[in-house]
Amino acid sequence: MTTVEQTSSVRPARRAAVTNPGHGDIFTDHMFSMLWSPAEGWHQPEFGQLQNLSIHPGMIGLHYGQVAFEGLKAHRRADGSMVVFRPREHARRFQTSTSRLAMPELPTDIFMSAVNQLVAADQEWLSDHPAHSLYLRPLMFATDESLMLRPSENYRFLLMAFVAGGFFGDRVDTVSVLISRDYCRAIPGGTGNVKVAGNYAPSFVAQRQAQEAGCHQVVWLDAIERRWVEEMGGMNLFFVRSTGTGNEVVTPQLTGSLLPGVTRDALLTMAERLGYRTREERISVEQWRQECAEGTISEVFACGTAAVVTPVGTVRDPAGGDWTVGDGLPGPVTMTLRRTLMDLHHGLARDTEGWLHPVPTEQ
Ligand code: COI
Repeated sequence: MTTVEQTSSVRPARRAAVTNPGHGDIFTDHMFSMLWSPAEGWHQPEFGQLQNLSIHPGMIGLHYGQVAFEGLKAHRRADGSMVVFRPREHARRFQTSTSRLAMPELPTDIFMSAVNQLVAADQEWLSDHPAHSLYLRPLMFATDESLMLRPSENYRFLLMAFVAGGFFGDRVDTVSVLISRDYCRAIPGGTGNVKVAGNYAPSFVAQRQAQEAGCHQVVWLDAIERRWVEEMGGMNLFFVRSTGTGNEVVTPQLTGSLLPGVTRDALLTMAERLGYRTREERISVEQWRQECAEGTISEVFACGTAAVVTPVGTVRDPAGGDWTVGDGLPGPVTMTLRRTLMDLHHGLARDTEGWLHPVPTEQ
């Protein structure tokens, strides 16, 4: 396997240059690549410079969407070391996603080795800014040159990285959401519960509608009854209910059409540890509106690798008007969970669950 050393002379310039990274535009220097074929299985691992690919225009992945990906993050701890948040869970979900598209599974040890190499080589892209991280993007796609409608026989796995700031900017502010009444994201038996490229392009028109309505994001309802809240564009949702006996943190249950978020799962555990009751249950859009009016639902937030924990302040429903969540500002439970998660990422809290993978510095 080829490894490419990064020279120390470029490091300070890179770190200084990345003051406002946004999300997805500032790629780091390297990538990992590996091929799969029926005869050789996983073979030809290569680690080298990030570079353009040469592909056949009739590649199956391009035409029929046999493409799956993941998203996970590496963080810098206060002591300067790098950690990756729950990479093995992301490797497992990647296996579930690729299997759903009749693609081979990438063994977890290959996934981990690629993550270790890339983070070790490109860590100097990351500044000490608490809202910045290295976002790692594993990708697998079908490479057969054929337009026959069949699964490819050959595949390529890539791992690349970009410097990520906050998905909605580096300041924490509430976001506004539009309930999508024209489109739905996932159907029972479809691919809503896996991370495949084909789930994302169809969301763009709904996302555009949200922006035209003055909202940051779209909220998806279930495809059958069109009333059960499922996800927010590419993120899971949580509701905070104030009850007589304390706060309850509620998230839509995984019915098979929602993505089982790794951050969602972590927040359920963290909320319990913080003394909040947690529930996974169906929540209808009528309930959301009514419980906000009554003051029972006092906070709502989105979560995900990209979103971390992002408070939702206002809701626009073309079928039912607009409403505000709580006072429209980031709420205390949301901010406590956000702080707890970010402290864990940055080594300021004890990793009681073993969720942080320390990246070996020598590869
Ligand atoms: C992530 O949170 O990592 C995602 O993949 C969603 C992103 C594409 C918005």
